[in-house]
Amino acid sequence: MAKMRFLQLSDTHIGRGDNFENIQVVVDGIVEKKDEHQCRVIVWTGDVVDDGHKWQYKQAKQIKDQLTQAGFEVIAAPGNHDYGPQGIFESNRAKSRFHKFLHHDDDYPRVDLIDGVAYITLDSMEKEMADVEFPGAEGELGVDQLTELDYTLGELHSNSNVKKIVVALHHHPFYFRQFLALRDGDKLKKVVGNNDEHGARIHALVFGHKHYLNRLAEKEKKYKIPIIYSSNKTTSVKKNSAGAAVYKISVIDLEANSCDILEINA
Ligand SMILES: [Fe+2]
Repeated sequence: MAKMRFLQLSDTHIGRGDNFENIQVVVDGIVEKKDEHQCRVIVWTGDVVDDGHKWQYKQAKQIKDQLTQAGFEVIAAPGNHDYGPQGIFESNRAKSRFHKFLHHDDDYPRVDLIDGVAYITLDSMEKEMADVEFPGAEGELGVDQLTELDYTLGELHSNSNVKKIVVALHHHPFYFRQFLALRDGDKLKKVVGNNDEHGARIHALVFGHKHYLNRLAEKEKKYKIPIIYSSNKTTSVKKNSAGAAVYKISVIDLEANSCDILEINA
């Protein structure tokens, strides 16, 4: 039986600086180290591209295709930068490109059931885009999407093929800085978190946006969600403990409840 684990990519910002070259190195490493990380699912939590331009999406699709051809399943949730320049000037044209180039289904919450794991992706820009307001990098899921999520979780809980449930989105639900927050993060926590004596309704909540790698242990306890995890910016070069330049890719294991780092030489 396939392992219930996945790799998380986030905030790749393809189109800015060397990010396209960097993600190519990362993808080569992921393919080469298949036996080491033992994942076949990749969850890409938004800001895939930097400005929503077509040429950027063409590069992103090239990356996705390379992974797909190597046998990986790639699941992507959109971020604020995917929908427009500087992550604040959203347009329907940029939004349509995310779905044209990366995923044909734009009706969220979206569910991909792979190897006993239901991966639910959310669009944290859905309600944000519907409202005209002062430009910022906030997100908002909206009541409609949260109501659907609630219903979807009910359905998945009565499906015996579903062993684990992952919710993935771009915006960080525990980051409250002005112009960057997920406006309805508290409502999301009510839907997925510890509502009653039965505990939480999901096994992992993963996101990006803040470019900060962090497992939120206190929040896991509070909401009784086994894994709450914020990814770093995948295309940033970091130093490892030996001082070498590496990319740090998150490896999340839903059976062991572990979050490890796969290092790829930069
Ligand atoms: Fe973002």
